[in-house]
Amino acid sequence: MQNPEIKTTCSYCGVGCGIIVTKDSKNGVTVRGDENHPVNRGMLCSKGMNLHYVANDTSDRILYPEMRWSKSHPMERVSWDAAMDRAAAVFSSIIKKYGPDSVGFYVSGQCLTEEYYLVNKLVKGFLKTNNIDTNSRLCMSSAVVGYKKTFGEDSVPIAYDDIELADTFLITGANPAWCHPILFRRLEQHREKNPKVKVIVIDPRRTDTAATADLHLQIIPGSDIILYHALAKCIIERGYSDSDFVKKNTENYLAYKELVLSTSLEKASKLCGISVSDIKLAADLIGKAEGFLSLWAMGLNQSAIGVDKNTALLNISLLTGHVGKPGSGPFSLTGQPNAMGGREVGGMANLLAVHKDLGNPIHRQEVADFWGVDAISPNPGLTATEMFDALESGKMKAIWVICTNPLVSLPDSRRVEKALAKAKFVVVQEISHNADTAKHADLLLPAAGWLEKEGTMTNSERRISYLPKGINPPGEALSDVEILIRFAKKMNFTGFNFNTTEEVYKEYCQMTKNTSIDISFLNYTRLKNEGTFQWPVPDYGHPGTPRLFTDKKFYTPSQKAIFNLPTAIENTSEQPTDQYPFILTTGRVRDQWHTMTKTGKVSRLMTHSPSPLL
Ligand code: MOS
Repeated sequence: MQNPEIKTTCSYCGVGCGIIVTKDSKNGVTVRGDENHPVNRGMLCSKGMNLHYVANDTSDRILYPEMRWSKSHPMERVSWDAAMDRAAAVFSSIIKKYGPDSVGFYVSGQCLTEEYYLVNKLVKGFLKTNNIDTNSRLCMSSAVVGYKKTFGEDSVPIAYDDIELADTFLITGANPAWCHPILFRRLEQHREKNPKVKVIVIDPRRTDTAATADLHLQIIPGSDIILYHALAKCIIERGYSDSDFVKKNTENYLAYKELVLSTSLEKASKLCGISVSDIKLAADLIGKAEGFLSLWAMGLNQSAIGVDKNTALLNISLLTGHVGKPGSGPFSLTGQPNAMGGREVGGMANLLAVHKDLGNPIHRQEVADFWGVDAISPNPGLTATEMFDALESGKMKAIWVICTNPLVSLPDSRRVEKALAKAKFVVVQEISHNADTAKHADLLLPAAGWLEKEGTMTNSERRISYLPKGINPPGEALSDVEILIRFAKKMNFTGFNFNTTEEVYKEYCQMTKNTSIDISFLNYTRLKNEGTFQWPVPDYGHPGTPRLFTDKKFYTPSQKAIFNLPTAIENTSEQPTDQYPFILTTGRVRDQWHTMTKTGKVSRLMTHSPSPLL
């Protein structure tokens, strides 16, 4: 009998392509792009196209829980029950002796929303520490803060459909040709049909994205804010600003105008390594745009002045009035499939669930009340890098790592290695023995991977999709939801009496009621029957919300968007010297993803870029 097709979503980047999975006769799976999916319309990139290899090959998988009694003991196989007993006993005794802030969780933008929600509830609500951070810290915490400072909340305003409605694109600090290929393909197709479309790329490297641009501004790393100010100056002086929007719908314009008008184009040209004529050309293109989209990623976010770079770029959208209308807006590209879901559930050390504010005592109480606990700690938790510093210094004693490989992905891996060696107790919840961090575990928990569990994710345009369970996980691996619930129950925490993942989602959807994310009228049934939805979905039968701020009302107290001024205009990173003359930036390779524990298994994905490159 032919197995039914399973509709799901790709587990790699934040684009969120629809995938159709079919099971073959040998119980393996094959994949193809979903022709009816609004994101990719049947297309898949090299990584997504090869997902079936990753799902079918279980040779590297962790099949049962393993633990060791001390660092000098070998790992041995244990039952789930024994593993969870040990985890609960060690966490309880460390917390009793050193306080709740002596433990921490390091989670991932690859976690499904239900997992992310549960682990936040567990840590912030019940373990009583805010030491939970995510690998998304490394890639878009600057974007989160930039949106909050400009719009009042972490809200990405655009829809992918704006790509086909825009005529001018500013791609800055991103290489979507390699890192977000399907979105880039949509842009290319739009351009092929509309030769008037212009693409400006700002990047120190001549990437594949830059090679196709109408104008490539090959910027000196770190000088982005200077360039954005120079562009703004030209836009104002040439009369391209949208004074109506600026007057009615923004705050702090005069201070911004004064600052950018004081920019010297000659000086900016020298600091950025871009000719004055190219700056003027770019400003003209942006100024004349009917629909203007700015797309960015690590070049802005992963920086010592990341928030300021973000607000400086957002200011250009405000200045030109390109917010909350079709074909226009700021469009942050997320790198992981559910980085966005993590932001919604408050998956960082300084965030609270459903866009509530950790610094606000009323918000903390609302969250505590919803979870049925006394209080949420007012202390911001340690961030990703701070947690590893704290393990190294002995301030933190235990860490629980879920679905991420910090030994490779965090900066200064020697230091991370030392921190893990110093930790009294390291739990690693993982799918693959190839994850380098797994070698440092005192307790190794086998997790279910893509297609082996159900749940939801949100892509870069706020689109939520449901991923069904299609195959069984290998060995004794369990879904992350199940693992977290088992641990919470061993800790005797109330509030984890969920029988299904759907019940977890229901609780989370309820929590979003009357917030900007409001998906209180979304549920698994609708997601299964009607497909994907962009939040908010605040009413019965509501179709979802493609674009935010169409009424030009923002989430700030005045309902106006805010022009933020940077604390520093010039780069504050360490500068090259005679002894260390190079600036190195990081970038992804086209066919690999993150630390290669999945894509590294597929031989045909190794051919494009077979060895590391400096
Ligand atoms: Mo990020 S790599 O968008 O969590």
